[in-house]
Amino acid sequence: MIQADTRLKIQAAMRAVFPAYEQRVARFYAMQEYHLGWRNLDLSPAAEDPGKLIRPLLVLLASGAVGGDTAQALPLAAGIQLLHDFTLIHDDIEDNSDTRRGRVTLWKHWGLAQGINAGDGMFVLAHLALHRLVEAGVEPALTLHILQRFDEIILSVCEGQFLDLSFEGDLSIETDDYLAMIGRKTAALVAGSAELGARVGGASAATAAAFADFGRRLGLAFQIQDDILGIWGAPEITGKPRAADLYRRKLSLPVAHALAHSPQPAELATIYATAPDDAAVERALALLDAAGSREYCAALAAENHGAALAALAMVQPASSAEAQAAYLQIRSLAESLLGRQY
Ligand code: IPE
Ligand code: IPE
Ligand code: MG
Ligand code: MG
Repeated sequence: MIQADTRLKIQAAMRAVFPAYEQRVARFYAMQEYHLGWRNLDLSPAAEDPGKLIRPLLVLLASGAVGGDTAQALPLAAGIQLLHDFTLIHDDIEDNSDTRRGRVTLWKHWGLAQGINAGDGMFVLAHLALHRLVEAGVEPALTLHILQRFDEIILSVCEGQFLDLSFEGDLSIETDDYLAMIGRKTAALVAGSAELGARVGGASAATAAAFADFGRRLGLAFQIQDDILGIWGAPEITGKPRAADLYRRKLSLPVAHALAHSPQPAELATIYATAPDDAAVERALALLDAAGSREYCAALAAENHGAALAALAMVQPASSAEAQAAYLQIRSLAESLLGRQY
């Protein structure tokens, strides 16, 4: 999905915000580098970076599509990815997840308290990345605007995580509640990547708003697909355990749909009332199948995906060949995300 040289540029911009540190705090940063895929569990350097880097790629492409300079957008791309990774470190604690990107989670290995602290460190590094926009030549007033929007977006993500957690055990969740939740926890950051990428590239507020609209719909489709994968994803591709969301009793969209449309909603509710064993999860899968929940979610993802592409069509890219190429790449990135398997 992302070219190797672009991945390297984003990674280099992320690495650049890690400070020079004393040996006594080396493990604080090494734990964060483990999460990013740059170190193995024994903290030796690793070659792999298993994240998809979709959000920073969107930043660079949105900036490029409006005629911006990649070098000026890179600190923002780095900050957005560090912010995303901060949310994942804390999300794995909040969701009690043992596995992320096919590896043991930071908190599971180093403990809850160090997990919280490592996440806090990455939250700050994300901000330090954005402060570098000025050094890259972005106007201070624009940098300040981007920082403010960045913080508003993070608050929205925290609201979304609050709603997500507060849904646990509430079997009355409806599609509207669910969309309000994922609009905050996921779509806000995808929208922000497109919006702020355009902004740093010099777009007007109106053009940036059109990019935000595109990103919001893309983010909704992305999270709905994530919820499909959380139940039906192949562990060897997703890097997460099989039917993980059912074992965790998440009130994700497929389950909310099945509770409202299953011929036997009471049976699913009973399964969700206590920690399910393997047999109960198999039965829940059969109930979801019978309710057509997977098809319903796939259709809703496709609808939002279509709306994303329609919003993108409203954006007029800058006239240079590079800008037109970046615009087309945004479209193919969005297209590649529909029905993604990881
Ligand atoms: C995972 O995001 C969390 C969600 C918002 C669904 P990604 O699927 O983009 O995660 P990585 O960074 O590529 O692993
Ligand atoms: C994704 O949360 C959203 C954020 C991390 C803010 P999920 O809990 O739905 O995503 P995965 O499945 O753990 O990646
Ligand atoms: Mg999670
Ligand atoms: Mg979560």
